[in-house]
Amino acid sequence: MYPLIRNRRLRATESIRRLVRETTISPDDFLTPLFVVEGKGIKEEIASMPDQYRLSLDNLEKEVKELWKMGLCAVLLFVKVPDNLKDNKGTEALNANGLMQRAIKTVKNACPDMLVMTDVAMDPYSSYGHDGIVENGQILNDETSEFLSEMSISHAKAGADFVAPSDMMDGRILTIREALEDEGFINTGIMSYSAKYASAFYGPFRDALDSAPVNQKDVPKDKKTYQMDFANRFEAIRETQMDIEEGADIVMVKPGLAYLDIVREIKNEVDVPIAVYQVSGEYAMLKAAAEKGWLDHDAVMMEQLIAIKRAGANIIASYFAKDAVKLM
Ligand code: PBG
Repeated sequence: MYPLIRNRRLRATESIRRLVRETTISPDDFLTPLFVVEGKGIKEEIASMPDQYRLSLDNLEKEVKELWKMGLCAVLLFVKVPDNLKDNKGTEALNANGLMQRAIKTVKNACPDMLVMTDVAMDPYSSYGHDGIVENGQILNDETSEFLSEMSISHAKAGADFVAPSDMMDGRILTIREALEDEGFINTGIMSYSAKYASAFYGPFRDALDSAPVNQKDVPKDKKTYQMDFANRFEAIRETQMDIEEGADIVMVKPGLAYLDIVREIKNEVDVPIAVYQVSGEYAMLKAAAEKGWLDHDAVMMEQLIAIKRAGANIIASYFAKDAVKLM
């Protein structure tokens, strides 16, 4: 009891603060998202994501080597697909010599120990910008899951360590797990985007890949029939538990900062590793405020990353990975 107990004793100097600190982060915690494009010598900055680039394979190779040198050990790959290769069924995603498949091989050749995770979803390949096949104004569930299992096998064949389905179709984790087992990919992991919300924070990402839903008759204008309603909490637990039962090795909450209540809730319920995706819009907000001189970039970035870890994240997918590691 005060004055016998004075909590400020444990805050008096940086050394005592270090000694009693409950949460720390290291390069081991990060999954670095990377955007890949066709071409040579390309490193295009994404307008709404300063310091993030669309990389051609030669630059991807350089980038991955740099990340590895910095101590980062895992990447999450996304591809920007040329419009002429898009259709309603995502056909190009299964091309054994497609951009994603070549990107996986490029990373593995450059850096064999770098863990490669791949985005498994139809949207970058869809002429409608949806994560599933569109029919009569609906997103087909089971046909899409079937397709995603083929896509996963294609990534596994190219050398992906983990596939990361980000589509939110029902039952797709089981469909994918069974397909991987059938094809002998028993060690290919699944990181499921298990509680992924229909969020406006994905805006800059959709600019990066030109993957936003198109504005067209009979095409849903948003992803609200498959991604979760951001007003819901219990549903996130149910989604996560189902994905674990279906065979997910790692589960995810996405976006990050506005959803840390969900992260903690899930942390208290399940015992598999939890990834949190600090998404493009979160990145853009801090970059913009820092550019205006309104926020201290590095300080706010570290505060946010620690908050994500403190909430219960074991893995943080973040565009800040490099910036953060430079400060460690
Ligand atoms: C694709 C996918 C999206 C993101 C990751 N995978 C966009 C979406 O669902 O519309 C968003 C990531 C970000 O905003 O950084 N299904």
